[in-house]
Amino acid sequence: MSTTASGRPGEEAQVDWGALRALAQEAMGKAYVPYSKYPVGAAALLDNGRTVSGCNVENASYGLTLCAECSLVSAIHMGGGGRIVAFTCVDGAGEILMPCGRCRQLLYEHRAPGMVLETVSGLRTMDQVLPDAFGPEDLEK
Ligand code: THU
Repeated sequence: MSTTASGRPGEEAQVDWGALRALAQEAMGKAYVPYSKYPVGAAALLDNGRTVSGCNVENASYGLTLCAECSLVSAIHMGGGGRIVAFTCVDGAGEILMPCGRCRQLLYEHRAPGMVLETVSGLRTMDQVLPDAFGPEDLEK
């Protein structure tokens, strides 16, 4: 389905959610998950039109695991930057997965105004999935 990032036709950038999910599914196939056997893939459309993706990378020291969103955020910066307009994340079955709390914070830092996530309960804004968030602005106060 193609909708606007806001989920309301006529507003903001057009988002091809099917294509974004396919990108996340492709990334999921690259996950390094020898411990949990739980692959995750994430994909995002940026405000400069670029798409980025990431997969989870685990470690023998379990707590050092990098979520798929970590790898996606690194890809944003390695590719020259940009801010996230639309985001999706999938599990090993290719089904939509909610980003964990830590990753919501990670994504928040790199959001474009009005950023939308595809979630298990439909399209949601970043503010809906992380209300009253702490962010870089707080450090300026
Ligand atoms: N995982 C992610 O990659 N992103 C999330 O938002 C949730 C959890 C990964 C971490 C770990 O490799 C596996 O899922 C099981 O927790």
